[in-house]
Amino acid sequence: MRAMVYRGPGRIRVEEKDIPSIEHPNDAIVRVTCAAICGSDLHLYHGMIPDLRVGHTFGHEFVGVVHEVGPSVQHLKVGDRVLVPFNISCGSCFFCARGLYGNCHNVNPNATAIGGIYGYSHSAGGYDGGQAEFVRVPFADVGPSKIPEWMDEEDAVMLTDACPTGYFGAQLGEIREGDVVVVFGAGPVGLFAAKSSWLMGAGRVIVVDHVDYRLDFARTFAHAETVNFTQVNDIVQWVKETTEFLGADVCIEAVGSEADGAFFQHVTSAKLKLQGGSPVALNWCIDSVRKGGTVSVVGAFGPLFSAVKFGDAMNKGLTIRTNQCPVKRQWPRLFEHVKNGVLKPSAIVTHRIPLDDIAEGYHLMSNKLDGCTKPLVIPTS
Ligand SMILES: NC(=O)c1ccc[n+]([C@@H]2O[C@H](COP(=O)([O-])OP(=O)(O)OC[C@H]3O[C@@H](n4cnc5c(N)ncnc54)[C@H](O)[C@@H]3O)[C@@H](O)[C@H]2O)c1
Ligand SMILES: [Zn+2]
Ligand SMILES: [Zn+2]
Repeated sequence: MRAMVYRGPGRIRVEEKDIPSIEHPNDAIVRVTCAAICGSDLHLYHGMIPDLRVGHTFGHEFVGVVHEVGPSVQHLKVGDRVLVPFNISCGSCFFCARGLYGNCHNVNPNATAIGGIYGYSHSAGGYDGGQAEFVRVPFADVGPSKIPEWMDEEDAVMLTDACPTGYFGAQLGEIREGDVVVVFGAGPVGLFAAKSSWLMGAGRVIVVDHVDYRLDFARTFAHAETVNFTQVNDIVQWVKETTEFLGADVCIEAVGSEADGAFFQHVTSAKLKLQGGSPVALNWCIDSVRKGGTVSVVGAFGPLFSAVKFGDAMNKGLTIRTNQCPVKRQWPRLFEHVKNGVLKPSAIVTHRIPLDDIAEGYHLMSNKLDGCTKPLVIPTS
C-alpha cells in the first residue's frame, strides 16, 4: 500500500509499505477513504516530539471502510463505513471506565503519562497512522463508530479530532452565561473552540492569532471578535483594556508547543528544544484571565518542563484544566449538533490533497500558505 512516511524533520514522502494485518483478535483493518493533517502533525513534522522514528506513518484523523476484522470483533463488519477517534483506548481500564479515553492505561507500553494515539511517535505507543491506504485499528469495538447515513464524510473526519477537541476546549473552560472568552489560536482547534463557546453561553468570544486569513475566517465561521497580536502593543494589556481591567473570564490555549510571539521562548522551545513547548500563549492566558478565572489548555506540550508562570496562576487563584480530548465521549452530543445543523465541521476544510502529494499538504499547512487551515488527504485507490 501507499503510506506517508517520516524521514526526518521537515522531510516526509510517500512509500510502499505492507498492508497492516490483524495482530490481535480485537483488531480491525480499515481502508482509509479520507484523512486529514492536524496541527499536532506539525509538531511531529518539525521534530518536536520525542521518540519519533524514521519510517513512522502519521495520521490520527481518518475515516474509512472496514476491510478486515479480527475474530473477537463484535460491533463492526467488513464494509462498514467508520470514523475512528484519534485516541486508542482499551475501553475497560480505570481511566476508560471514567470516560477518560485519552488517558487509557493499557495502550502505550512506552509511557504512563500519555495514552495511545495513531501515528504519533513511539512516545504515544508507536501505532502507524491513517495517512495511508490502510491502517490497523486496535480495540476495534471500543473507538470506532459507524458513520450515520446522514453524515457527510468530510464532517465525519473532522469529528475524529479537530471539532471534538475545540468543543472540549470550551467545555474545560467551564463557561458561564455571559462570560468573556478569549481563544488563543485560530487554527482548526481554536476555531471550533470559539464556535463552541457560544453554545456554552459565552457573552463575548475573542480570537487571537497573527495569521490574518485565519482571523478573517474566525469572524465569519465563529462570529468572533478578532485581534492580530502583532498589531497591538501588548496583547495582555489589550485584553485587560477591553474587559474593564478585570481580565477575561475564560482563556483557551489552542496553540501548543510552537507558539510564536516571544522570541526567547520560541527559540528555546521550537528551535533548541530546551523546553517541552513554547509557553507564550499559555502565559498570555494566565496573564489575560481575571483572578479566579479558568484557563483551558488543549494545545499540545511535550514531556519536558516549560517556563510557565505558575506563581501568577497560583496567586490569581486560577483554575487550569487540560487534557487530550476524549473524542469518543464528545460524539453523542456532537452528532446531534451536526445532524441539527448547529455545527458544520467540514466548513473549515480548505484543501483536498491526493495522498501522493501529501508533502505539499504539510508544506502549505506548516507555512500557512494558500489560505491553508485544514488539508484533507485522499488516498488514491
Ligand atoms: N488536546 C488535544 O486533544 C489536542 C487535539 C488536537 C490538537 N491539539 C493541539 O492543539 C493545538 C492547535 O491545533 P491546530 O490543529 O488548531 O493547529 P494549528 O497549527 O493549525 O493552529 C495554531 C494557531 O496558533 C497560532 N499561534 C501561534 N502562536 C500564537 C500565539 N502566541 N497566540 C495566539 N495564536 C498563536 C498559529 O498562527 C496558528 O494559526 C496544537 O498544539 C495541537 O497539537 C490538541
Ligand atoms: Zn490532532
Ligand atoms: Zn483503557
